[in-house]
Amino acid sequence: MAILVTGGAGFIGSNFVLDWLAQTQETLVNLDKLTYAGNLRNLAPVNTNPNHIFVQGDIGDRALVGTLLSRYQPRAVLNFAAESHVDRSISGPAEFIHTNIVGSFHLLEAVRAYWTALPAGPASAFRLLHVSTDEVYGSLLAGEAAFSESRRYEPNSPYSASKAASDHLVRAYHHTYGLPVLTTNCSNNYGPLHFPEKLIPLMIVNALAGKPLPVYGDGQQIRDWLYVKDHCAAIRLVLERGRPGDTYNVGGWNEQANIDIVHAVCALLDEMQPRRDGRGYAQQISFVADRPGHDRRYAIDARKIKQELGWKPAETFASGLRKTVRWYLDNPQWVRDVQSGSYRDWVAHQYPGGGTAP
Ligand code: NAD
Ligand code: DAU
Repeated sequence: MAILVTGGAGFIGSNFVLDWLAQTQETLVNLDKLTYAGNLRNLAPVNTNPNHIFVQGDIGDRALVGTLLSRYQPRAVLNFAAESHVDRSISGPAEFIHTNIVGSFHLLEAVRAYWTALPAGPASAFRLLHVSTDEVYGSLLAGEAAFSESRRYEPNSPYSASKAASDHLVRAYHHTYGLPVLTTNCSNNYGPLHFPEKLIPLMIVNALAGKPLPVYGDGQQIRDWLYVKDHCAAIRLVLERGRPGDTYNVGGWNEQANIDIVHAVCALLDEMQPRRDGRGYAQQISFVADRPGHDRRYAIDARKIKQELGWKPAETFASGLRKTVRWYLDNPQWVRDVQSGSYRDWVAHQYPGGGTAP
């Protein structure tokens, strides 16, 4: 038995791969293009694990995907591969169209050809699980009900529009061809191995480096935060027990304003690695220009996955954030390694003038 995971060198994908290989003996084939966000160091603990087969390549390479499918005969394909950073999608949307839409289409075509040729038993057991986001639903008003699975799509950024397009393709392949697909729409993840272009890891690494903590706009935008290992557990459950054709919203029941997240990170750092001058990290907070088209609020209604599959988060935000800050403090070499030339170019582009903390 085997599964094929795409994007398994990124943040969520590598957490999924590490957890999978720690928990099962089933072979996992890991196809990743190794973009700036893909990092083989994330997979160092499974380098010598014979159940992990890493292949560098593009989900849009239909011939390569077809070869992997026929060679390893997976019982499932899990698609984590994507361009995932909203700010990058605003600066340069082309890669988001290329991977999230066109790449997903080629992946679907390769999977459909493989699945169509399977004997009846393996074909009915086969699953394609598409990992998506709550951002496809757009932005909520204060007091509005959280996103349920029947909420209409209203994506606002090139990133979320490209994810919405891929969700629609996945849905259509079920409706038209009967491909047994599952889609998960999850809220903001945080945890170990998170690339420090996203809010929480950026705040941790900037704080420790004595740099400003850039908060967009008024900092009152709300996100629903979920510890990454809880997301991975939800994906495993949906894979084994989800109903083909269905979508499952995954969230932490944990809505927080960005500024409160930043203060929570600062408070943990004050406790775990106080500044030498005795002042708090919060004094490094710096309000900067807002993200264009910035969604005000996301919130996930995760009742369906709880009622139908019995999933709920294991971590509280307090326990998950503490583990996360601890991980970054314990892994300074990982942080140094990912802060390569291309990372520095991105930071200079996105945060012009960001140098010494106020
Ligand atoms: P990430 O940017 O950290 O990792 C993406 C991975 O995909 C990288 O390893 C990259 O090399 C790989 N990749 C990119 N283009 C590829 C291609 N064409 N072919 C093969 N591999 C390619 O992203 P992440 O945060 O781990 O997100 C994983 C998935 O989960 C994405 O689909 C994202 O939309 C979704 N998601 C993320 C969050 C979040 O908070 N991070 C929340 C909900 C859903
Ligand atoms: O909701 C799920 C989504 O969460 C995923 O689909 C995306 O892949 C993932 O990147 C994430 O998107 P966000 O845009 O919500 O995450 P990000 O960490 O970039 O930003 C979180 C919030 O913090 C958002 O309101 C913007 C704000 N922010 C972000 C950065 C990088 C700041 O205020 N300052 C910053 O420097």
